[in-house]
Amino acid sequence: MTAAKGATITVLGGGLMGLALAHQLARRGESVLVLSRRRSEAAGFVAAGMLAPHAEGLSGDLLALGQASLARIPAWVAQIEADSGLRCGLRPCGIVVPFPSAAARDAYPTAAWGEALDRRGLEQEVPGIGPSWQAGLLFAQDGQIDNRRQLMRALERACVELGVTFQEGTQVLGLERDGAGTLQAVHLRNAEGDAQRLPAQRAVLACGAWSAKLLPVLPVVPVKGQMLSLQGPRQALGRVIFGPGTYLVPREDGLLVVGATSEAEAGFSEGLTPAGQRQLQDGIADLLPEASAWPPMERWWGFRPCTPDEGPLLGRSPIAGLWLATGHHRNGVLLAAITAELVAAAIKGEVSAEAHRQLDAFSCRRFSP
Ligand code: GLY
Repeated sequence: MTAAKGATITVLGGGLMGLALAHQLARRGESVLVLSRRRSEAAGFVAAGMLAPHAEGLSGDLLALGQASLARIPAWVAQIEADSGLRCGLRPCGIVVPFPSAAARDAYPTAAWGEALDRRGLEQEVPGIGPSWQAGLLFAQDGQIDNRRQLMRALERACVELGVTFQEGTQVLGLERDGAGTLQAVHLRNAEGDAQRLPAQRAVLACGAWSAKLLPVLPVVPVKGQMLSLQGPRQALGRVIFGPGTYLVPREDGLLVVGATSEAEAGFSEGLTPAGQRQLQDGIADLLPEASAWPPMERWWGFRPCTPDEGPLLGRSPIAGLWLATGHHRNGVLLAAITAELVAAAIKGEVSAEAHRQLDAFSCRRFSP
């Protein structure tokens, strides 16, 4: 952490990607400013925190990126915990995906990475699982992290400890380029409502679902997700259950985080809906009937940033001086570790051959005609 500091790097977005990038850049000796509009709307606070490249049934480059990130997470979390003095709530508890039949189980895209379970095995892994499930896959390598209550707070503290500065309540309105298309400044409205021009030669766009509002060429659209939580008995459920349309994520203290609807047609429409909440309640009854009687705690919603192939946009943007860390759709918590590492390396010009390949696979150029 002794490298000479260049011009400040401005991170646009104070969500999980923005914080993870700011942290890695600060660790590499950079001076970093994070511009954040409203912390509570960041997808990092909305997600359930599953670390699930196998349980989510990813494939191709996205599966490889997810696996690479999963492998880095213990060391990444250790860094954050050391820098912040706070725990992140990493729980390598394994994830069970239930199926109505053995045939459906064997056809799952990531079946080769899981342990096949019959009904008896499923009941052993998930006591109380609903009667409609006859088979399962156990992905012992997948897990979860307590993003809402621990990771986000720890990351923010780690950033502060490393000298990152924050400007909260700031809406970024536009990006100013020179005649050659190189980033010169960002235009913003600050917390007091005043318009400002902030010179910026190096910036990272980490605006999640709102990314295309700032750079319309980016193919990022919001996919709304509604969630809720219940308070279960401590240790009632040891594994995450990842069912079709609903998943149950048990925290250490018995809190059960339940996700999530996937509403592409909702755009940025805010709020809970009866249909969305019913879907989750039905999913709970189907997966773990006894949990239907557990006391409700919270309900919330948010917006995933989704690209046409559901993979993230990483690395260079069409604007020189502006890098991308957005478009993570369902996998932001999983991919934060590798995103921060890859994009920080790209900004520093310290890209290994493997990182080059990964950045290339998730470059925004793949969507250019
Ligand atoms: N990772 C699960 C979701 O986005 O709902």
